[in-house]
Order: sequence, then structure tokens, then C-alpha cells
Amino acid sequence: MPRNWIKGGCLVLNSIYTLLLTSILSGMFTMLSPKQLDQFKTDGYTVIENVLSPEHLAQMKTRAASIVNDWKDDTDNPIFTTQDNNRSNNNYFLNSAENISCFYEEEAFDANGEFVQKREDCINKIGHALHELDPTFQTISHLPLLGDIAKDLGLEQPELRQSMYIFKQPRIGGVVNWHQDATFFYSDPISVITFWFAIEDATLENGCLWVEPKGHLGPLRERFNRDDNITTMDALDDTPWPTESGVPLEVKAGTLVCFHGKLPHYSAPNRSEKSRQAYTLHVTDGRCHYAESNWLQTKTLPLRGFDIID
Ligand code: FE2
Repeated sequence: MPRNWIKGGCLVLNSIYTLLLTSILSGMFTMLSPKQLDQFKTDGYTVIENVLSPEHLAQMKTRAASIVNDWKDDTDNPIFTTQDNNRSNNNYFLNSAENISCFYEEEAFDANGEFVQKREDCINKIGHALHELDPTFQTISHLPLLGDIAKDLGLEQPELRQSMYIFKQPRIGGVVNWHQDATFFYSDPISVITFWFAIEDATLENGCLWVEPKGHLGPLRERFNRDDNITTMDALDDTPWPTESGVPLEVKAGTLVCFHGKLPHYSAPNRSEKSRQAYTLHVTDGRCHYAESNWLQTKTLPLRGFDIID
């Protein structure tokens, strides 16, 4: 057999081998372990430790404190509560869709309208566009690692819809009632996944997140709809919220909890002396139709995934 035939044959075999190896590896390689992927599929959530470094956490805490310090409170009712499901005519809330706004804890004020503790310890959260408008949060929200995780979880065209920095303040940190995030980020089909980062250790004592394993397999109970400046919480299904089936997720600072948009979740009031700070991103899939009736629409800011930001 001529030598150049042998050489050509080897080259062809080598190319086929490389092609096969590349396609096998690209299909097999995932950021998440098989156990984490299985937990997400089966239970509706997964827990990934050490996603954010101590440096990330310090940067985020410092920046959040700075935003609160610089915030000019000149609004009528910047209190955030999940007790008021309608939030109708609350322009401060509605306008926060594409800016950086602070909200007070429901128990921030006494009967005389005075802060019950230091002003900075009365802030419930900052929302809802830190991921695009604040350089520190923008960089961390778009870490390539998060894009790899999103891809593993099935988000082929991730779109970052919303960000929140939640303080869960000592002593007065408010309850967040059982809910499903697809209520607020409805798409057809449902695609929203929540990225919940523990900025501080979350424990039973300071109001950690609770979830209902497998609850994402049930129905969506409510939709939060907006028509102009009127918002309504519309019932879809009367399946009761979990009472005995919830489990607490006590996690260390730096941990990322990812959960399905239909997974019921909740957090208790914080009556401890420690805050329980967290950062969240809500991500939908661009292949799914995002409802025009959702309260949060991206009109002025870029709508993108975990692309590297220059
Ligand atoms: Fe939620």
C-alpha cells in the first residue's frame, strides 16, 4: 500500500477521532455534578457551595451598604411586604423594575413614624436592576460560571430579568410568604429559574430559605398581572401551600441555591441578632414567550444572559 495512502488514512482517522471526542466531551461536560442535576430535576432545586468567593461577598456587602447610605428617601411608601399581594398603584415599586431602589422592612417604623433601629438596619431590600446598573453587581451577575450553570439547568438562551439584594435584617427581617417565582415571571412554557446566593450564612435562626421538594411538579397557583399601573394577584389553582412538606436550606455564605420557577418557597421572619443577606437573580429562557402582563418588563435596559461585560 502506498505510504501516502497510509498517511492520508491516518489523518482521516485522527480527524474522526477528534470530532468524536469533542462531541462526546461537550455533551458530557457539565459544571454541576450528576447528583446536583438529578436533584434539580427531581426535587426542583439544587445547592452549589462556594460559588461566590469571600472577595465577591465582601464586595457585594460593601456596595449594598453604600447604595443604602446614598439613597435619598423621598417617597411615600417604600415599604416592601409580601402581605400586600396587589401592590396596586405603587409607582415606586413599579418604577423599580429598571432602576435601583431601596425598600424598608414592614416593621421599620414605630407608632410615631420613627425608625425602630438604625436606618441602615431597616432596609428590606434593594431592587430590581442591580445586574445592569451597578458595576459591582453587574460584574458578579454575569460571571461566566453562572452561564455554565444556567446551561446545565436547561436555559439555552438565558435572559436576566431581575436582581434583588435582600437584607433580612436582625430582629425585624420580614416573612416572605410561600410563593412560586413563575407567578411573577410567567412565560409560555414556564422557564424562570431563580439563582439565590447566600451572602451570609443562612440558618433556621436568621430566617433561611425553605423549599418544598418536588413542589415544582404541581400547578402554578397564582399570576401577578399588570395592566398599566394596576397590578393584581390572580388565582389559578387552589392547591394549598406546604405546611409539613417544606424543608429548610441552611447554607454557608457563598452558596448558590438554584430553583425551578414553580417550586414553592418561603422564609420566616428574622428575630435573631444576625442579618441573613442574600442576592437573587431571576432568569428566563429567550426561547419561551415572556408574558406582556408580567409586572416587570425590560424596556430601557439590555436584556441579556451571562455574557461577559466589558
Ligand atoms: Fe421568590
